[in-house]
Amino acid sequence: MSSQVTVRRAEKSDLRALYEIEVECFQDGAFPLHYIAHFLEDPEFITLVTVVEGKVAGYVTARVENFEGKCMGHIYSIAVKPEYRRMGFGSCLLETVEEILEKMGAKVCYLEARRDNTAAIRFYLKHKYRVFEVLKDYYGAGRDGIRFMKFLLKG
Ligand SMILES: CC(C)(COP(=O)(O)OP(=O)(O)OC[C@H]1O[C@@H](n2cnc3c(N)ncnc32)[C@H](O)[C@@H]1OP(=O)(O)O)[C@@H](O)C(=O)NCCC(=O)NCCS
Repeated sequence: MSSQVTVRRAEKSDLRALYEIEVECFQDGAFPLHYIAHFLEDPEFITLVTVVEGKVAGYVTARVENFEGKCMGHIYSIAVKPEYRRMGFGSCLLETVEEILEKMGAKVCYLEARRDNTAAIRFYLKHKYRVFEVLKDYYGAGRDGIRFMKFLLKG
């Protein structure tokens, strides 16, 4: 990865760029613009972008949630523009947000992916996520999801 690549916190001025990435990467499954605005405005969300030569190439958004007394990281979206894929940007975003979630007290992290999203599934398996459950029709009729989970704490 080149030295001109940075990961930084997203700013409100990144709204349009993040929405365009969502639409390009998820088409009709993209989060609507007002959701992205919420990710940027709500301080509970950690939204990071990767910037390559001044352009936003990808983003991730996540937050810490409390579930039955357990502090868990939940990744809502991660996407890298097609022309920047397989260069390590997705991994850099994922690892950076995981570190932040862990520092905020999350012991595990979870996320959902479409069952037919082979690239994402391979990506998460490489990052030591494991299948937790299959979510029938999670993305609409006939479009199952998989919930993945990973322990963040080492040792
Ligand atoms: C999933 C995604 C974020 C990965 O981003 P990326 O920058 O390409 O990821 P990396 O370059 O860090 O890839 C790390 C590893 O993930 C796996 N991987 C990523 N894309 C893959 C693909 N198309 N096919 C197979 N494995 C893939 C590989 O193991 C890869 O390591 P390798 O290149 O050494 O083989 C990207 O493909 C993307 O934006 N997809 C569209 C949006 C999406 O589906 N997001 C996830 C929603 S749940």
